[in-house]
Amino acid sequence: MTASANALPAAGSDITRREFLNYAWLATIGVVTAEFAVVTYLFALPRLGPGEFGGPVPVGNVDALPGEGADPLNFPKAKFWWVVDNDSGGAKAIYTVCTHLGCIYKWKPDQGKYICPCHGSQFEREGKYIAGPAPRSLDQFVVRAVDAASGAELARTNDNGDPVVIPAGAQVVVETGMKIVGKSHG
Ligand code: FES
Repeated sequence: MTASANALPAAGSDITRREFLNYAWLATIGVVTAEFAVVTYLFALPRLGPGEFGGPVPVGNVDALPGEGADPLNFPKAKFWWVVDNDSGGAKAIYTVCTHLGCIYKWKPDQGKYICPCHGSQFEREGKYIAGPAPRSLDQFVVRAVDAASGAELARTNDNGDPVVIPAGAQVVVETGMKIVGKSHG
């Protein structure tokens, strides 16, 4: 081994290496900070497009939707069933998720009720609890009737979740970000 191989680095080159490491460290912190800022910005942006679950979902003219006596109509992407109550003629948008443990229940037209495949909970056509381990009736979303010409609101589901009568010719919007929890039967 030669004397030159054991020699300490020259003072000048040692300082340069330290400076380089400092710069590299600062650059790393800068990159991490910038990435954090971008992620925070993206997280703060609205993430719902029009018609997606979690926001207002336009479902068209009420005259084109199923009415009294008809089978409920499923809107799977927006996660609700559209149904019109046979007694009041009012509409409901019933959340497609079972109130027991969150399975997706099915409409059984031959039996005229919803049945959950997971543990057998059953619900009436308008979402009222019938039987099974579910602790409450089905949840629903606020339904709004909007004047097609002016955009003015004509009617909406009340806080009690009663079926809302939609005037003929009105446009319907289901607010899938506004859930009304089903009534407990306990
Ligand atoms: S999740 Fe529907 S009955 Fe259990």
